[in-house]
Amino acid sequence: MLGFHLLRSSISSSNLFSNFSAKTHLFSLLSISRLSNTNPRLQMECYSTSSETSRILIRQLFEKDSSTYTYLLADVAHPEKPALLIDPVDKTVDRDLSLVKELGLKLIYAINTHCHADHVTGTGLIKGRVPGVKSIISKESRAKADLFVEHGDKIYFGDLYLEVRATPGHTLGCVTYVTGDGSGHPQPRMAFTGDALLIHGCGRTDFQGGSSSQLYHSIHSQART
Ligand SMILES: [Fe+2]
Repeated sequence: MLGFHLLRSSISSSNLFSNFSAKTHLFSLLSISRLSNTNPRLQMECYSTSSETSRILIRQLFEKDSSTYTYLLADVAHPEKPALLIDPVDKTVDRDLSLVKELGLKLIYAINTHCHADHVTGTGLIKGRVPGVKSIISKESRAKADLFVEHGDKIYFGDLYLEVRATPGHTLGCVTYVTGDGSGHPQPRMAFTGDALLIHGCGRTDFQGGSSSQLYHSIHSQART
């Protein structure tokens, strides 16, 4: 069972972080309570996991103009430290790649939760800067990418993986990426929901394939279970 981890990339104005109107991917309630202390923006820009049993590294990064959170994940116990970026933004590609280099990681995937007018991805720029990086998005999104995923697929990085869960409603092709359930994975599991689920809200459903009823079903059957 998921520990109700909200890790997203867009937020409504009436949420926990309304002082900087952030979009949010999802994180755990523990993380949120931590972030609400002291300076929330600083906390969110440098949040990382710390667990004796987890081999995963997570960095939460923020792009203020689009109010987007990008997530850097890596298997730091693996010799090559393979890493992936979820929902990178074009304006912050330099920052993201600098962090990858600083941490000594090997970026292998740049993945998106969905394709949308409010979601300006940095995936193409990253591919041009880092040879060998593969872009990933859902098949249902009908967007361009190197690899396409569907509900139930697993995206491996090192000995860790993300499970793909279809969460349509904001767009038809929205997916949520959920951390794995085996040894070395964080517990409780974490779900990166894109615009499907925000803190104190959800993504709009009034255009580009949106459906309120479908989104409700997606959240309750996939993102919170
Ligand atoms: Fe969106």
